[in-house]
Amino acid sequence: MAEPLRVVVTGAAGQIAYSLLYMIAKGDVFGPDQPLILHLLDIPVMMGVLEGVVMELADCALPLLRDVIPTDDPVVAFTDVSSAFLVGAMPRKQGMERKDLLAANVKIFKVQGEALDKYAKKDVKVLVVGNPANTNALICSKYAPSIPKENFSAMTRLDQNRAQAQIAAKLNVPVGTVSNVIIWGNHSSTQYPDASHAVIDKNGNIEKAVDAIGNEQWLRETFLATVQKRGAAVIAARKMSSAMSAAKAASDHMRDWFLGTKSGKFVSMGVISAGAYGVPKDVIFSFPVIIENRKWKVVEGLPIDDFSRSMLDATGKELCEEREEALQIIQA
Ligand code: NAI
Repeated sequence: MAEPLRVVVTGAAGQIAYSLLYMIAKGDVFGPDQPLILHLLDIPVMMGVLEGVVMELADCALPLLRDVIPTDDPVVAFTDVSSAFLVGAMPRKQGMERKDLLAANVKIFKVQGEALDKYAKKDVKVLVVGNPANTNALICSKYAPSIPKENFSAMTRLDQNRAQAQIAAKLNVPVGTVSNVIIWGNHSSTQYPDASHAVIDKNGNIEKAVDAIGNEQWLRETFLATVQKRGAAVIAARKMSSAMSAAKAASDHMRDWFLGTKSGKFVSMGVISAGAYGVPKDVIFSFPVIIENRKWKVVEGLPIDDFSRSMLDATGKELCEEREEALQIIQA
């Protein structure tokens, strides 16, 4: 059997981690033959709660889980890790401006970037879940200059999974038959859920989702708004934010990064932009990607109509604004 892989999860005493840790530890992400050592980082006041999570992980009696290291010290958390799920972040509190939220998170992701730079494996794959995920990932990467920029990503997979589920429900087909739905841009209300390249596999016959749905207005209005506002709808119903589905999405994202995407299928992830599709460079922008040998590549050459163009421009503009605000905070 392979050597154990060290994986860090931050915000490990929180809601998302509670579902995510089980998914990772039972082999959903790195495969059924990969033993694991989990590093669990949270803040000092959460160490008691984290101890309970450690007990539960032990009580799951999971054969792949070789060790669990709970800590409030980023040095311990990031040493020798090959994969990092950065879930912990400062949540938006009542009356908090976007700038205040960014300021708190810039600090957290600066510290974690520096620790990754010094202590993690140089090929570590970093997934930022904590919001604002795209800009947090950019800041983290900025403070980890010895790790390639391509190794930092932000999660838009939950939005992709939500979009896929909405299309499957509309067509009354199994969710697994729907693929190639795209989330472009920021993980925020300006994200662009795009079904124009999505396909349905009907027993080997591939049909375009747009043709199967046959209702462009539904796609541009109801579908778009439902996906963009799904997080708020879950909060309204559950009185807590999405956690199980966020954990599943984080697990899907990292699994595809390590094990690769299936032939002909692409997935969305926030990655460093080199300006593909005319969007701004040097922001973490969600693109359709294919992954092979643990390297992602933006899918090229997809036709972009006028409606999509305006949506891409709007979300790109927001990401540039967030980046400028974050950089101002750093320089202040
Ligand atoms: P939670 O509040 O239940 O847990 C967050 C945990 O992070 C807490 O235990 C907290 O103590 C910890 N934490 C705070 N600062 C930390 C630091 N500096 N180092 C380590 N741990 C730290 O929140 P939940 O529901 O687990 O969500 C976590 C984050 O994920 C939030 O920022 C949320 O907005 C974001 N999120 C992102 C989604 C996406 O699609 N990208 C989807 C859903 C949530």
